[in-house]
Amino acid sequence: MADMNDIQSFIQPYLVPEGSAELNKNLEAMAASFAVTDDKIREIIKGFHASMKAGLERDDKDALPMIPTYVCGRPTGKETGTFLALDLGGTNLRVCQVTLNGDTTYSLVQQKFTITQEAKESRLWDFIAECVGVFLEEHDLHPPTGRRSIPCGYTFSFPIFQTSIASGNLSMWNKGFTVPNSVARDVVNLTQSAFQRHHVPVEVVAILNDTVGTLMTSGYSHPDTQMGIIFGTGTNAAYWEKLENIPKWVGEDRSGEMVVNLEWGAFDNATKVLPYTPHDNKLNRKSPNHGLQVYEKMISGLFLGEVARNAVLALVDQRLVFNGRSSDIFNKSYTFDTAYMSEIVSDETPDLSVVQTVLESTLDIPLTTLLDRKVVKNVCNMIGTRGVRLSAAAMSAVLLARPELLTNTVSVGIDGSMYQFYPNFERDLYTVSRVFLGEDFVDNRLKLHLAKDGSGVGAAIVAMTVDRDREHHA
Ligand code: GLC
Repeated sequence: MADMNDIQSFIQPYLVPEGSAELNKNLEAMAASFAVTDDKIREIIKGFHASMKAGLERDDKDALPMIPTYVCGRPTGKETGTFLALDLGGTNLRVCQVTLNGDTTYSLVQQKFTITQEAKESRLWDFIAECVGVFLEEHDLHPPTGRRSIPCGYTFSFPIFQTSIASGNLSMWNKGFTVPNSVARDVVNLTQSAFQRHHVPVEVVAILNDTVGTLMTSGYSHPDTQMGIIFGTGTNAAYWEKLENIPKWVGEDRSGEMVVNLEWGAFDNATKVLPYTPHDNKLNRKSPNHGLQVYEKMISGLFLGEVARNAVLALVDQRLVFNGRSSDIFNKSYTFDTAYMSEIVSDETPDLSVVQTVLESTLDIPLTTLLDRKVVKNVCNMIGTRGVRLSAAAMSAVLLARPELLTNTVSVGIDGSMYQFYPNFERDLYTVSRVFLGEDFVDNRLKLHLAKDGSGVGAAIVAMTVDRDREHHA
């Protein structure tokens, strides 16, 4: 097995012997800049622990946000009922009707709406209300007898500082959203007002992050779930923490536990630990939230393709690939979708014909040589490998923060496009984590599960608990 502390292990696989010395010199420097050695991961884990601890003590812009979520009860798997759930992700809005069967299984009817650019930039709240209105109409849904509105769980995949289970102020937008007049305001209020404007009879009874939804969904089927992760358009995680370990929690009850939303995409915003390349810096400078979410920008689906595009363009500019020519499409930001990277890195055809189709037909690059295609594949691999190694670093750091859990089996619920579609992502997560979490634990007790549609189902589970408690107290 390659020694992942030896920088050569990160360079040799990406050199192209048939290429020029100049090309190889550049590939070598590029591969070294994207390398994340085992020692680097140890440093990242140490940084994570310090930042988690600081974030649990106080709200500090240089620490991880570590947001208390007001979710305190683990699902039992016995929950039953049908609930409405909204899931606002980075790419889609899903409106779902979730049925919990009470035997650790669930089913759902859902409608997916692609979030329009206009909605991302301005009329998001009205867009949400319109989509929910369409769903209610198409499925002929009405408030239950004796009630004026349909209770609903709301998964909101952006950082909000919660003030209760059903309210929270937006800390900032990310993943390309820039809706004005929203930061520092209660997003439940903003959504609820739009429901009123559009006469949509729905009441949000719980709001939660998508990682919390993933954690709850996985917990519904696997009671030993300790963590929920999204590796998708963005990346983040939530985990169970003892209330006594959350000094900044102001509630009276300090026994028991609560789900904490890490917002780990914000790790290292102070830029002390991560290996930044010029290609990351270029992306970061041009992004609407530059200097923020820097970890996410090295890991998640929205950004990996853009980092790769920047890196390939640097080679184009030196006339080392495509004979120095690009295309109008490839010159535009965010045109190299991370899904293309997935296709490229899994192309095993002798003449790299899949890479050729992506480059020439989709991206309109004039004639590519086999050498060009190999170079592009290698660049994608460097960046994909860095992404999965950083993903494993973050997961390992959180699990190592609760070492007492690691003597038992631990399930981790995961959802998102990187986890589902990036080639070998899950296998590589296991392989990299073995080094830091130990072979015995990873091989025998760590279980990574796809929590499919986890954010929607989790919203229904939390909404159900809240609604049940409200009925009890009514
Ligand atoms: C971004 C958001 C976070 C969300 C993640 C995955 O990092 O800040 O709240 O969980 O994307 O969707």
